[in-house]
Amino acid sequence: MNKLVIANWKCNPTTLKEAKKLFKSIVKETKDTKNTEVVICPPAIYLLSLKDKNIKMGGQDCFWEERGAYTGEISPKMLKDAGCSYVILGHSERRKILDETDEVINKKIKAALAVGLTVVFCIGETVAERMTGQTEQILENKLRAGLNGIINPQGVIIAYEPVWAIGNGNPCDIGSSRETLEFLREKINTPIIYGGSVDSQCAISYINEAGFDGLLVGAASLLPEEFGMIVKTIS
Ligand code: PGA
Repeated sequence: MNKLVIANWKCNPTTLKEAKKLFKSIVKETKDTKNTEVVICPPAIYLLSLKDKNIKMGGQDCFWEERGAYTGEISPKMLKDAGCSYVILGHSERRKILDETDEVINKKIKAALAVGLTVVFCIGETVAERMTGQTEQILENKLRAGLNGIINPQGVIIAYEPVWAIGNGNPCDIGSSRETLEFLREKINTPIIYGGSVDSQCAISYINEAGFDGLLVGAASLLPEEFGMIVKTIS
């Protein structure tokens, strides 16, 4: 399987002009890479304006209904129509800031799979959960709840993102990420990627030493050269 590098731009940048410039630079920095699938997940409003033959597009979230009176929501079908093949669901920022529950995430995952989107399903433990030795239990609970009723998880990629390692330059050490990966591999047979303060220095270790199938990259995906380095080092 090709390695996967997914860029999560989150709520950045703030203008279409900047989004186009960033996208163009990432296309340039990643164009010669082989054996790696690059996915960009920009804010949804930019999706229709960004396109390149070597890059796949993804949403950062979606709703669980296809259409109707749901002010502000974007359906999986709309993402599909806008050229997406992926969608990130269950990101810890949405769980924490927008109070997304496992039940809501489960509905979204089912709806996204139903239209043929590949789901990047994020799970991770908080620092308090880790300190009290609950990491495996929490991950297992999140997995089970998020995938409740889904018999075949084909089309789901698990993103292991320890919450305490996101957005702070303090990535999970390779040894313990490998242990967690081994635990997850016993629970589910689907690709598993790592996310949390990935940069071009540590990227390769998550693939070669820990054994992940790819990376979910936040802050570093807004820096084209750095992101390009991440893609190149693992390709
Ligand atoms: P980060 O974000 O790379 O900035 O830590 C990763 C993520 O939240 O997906």
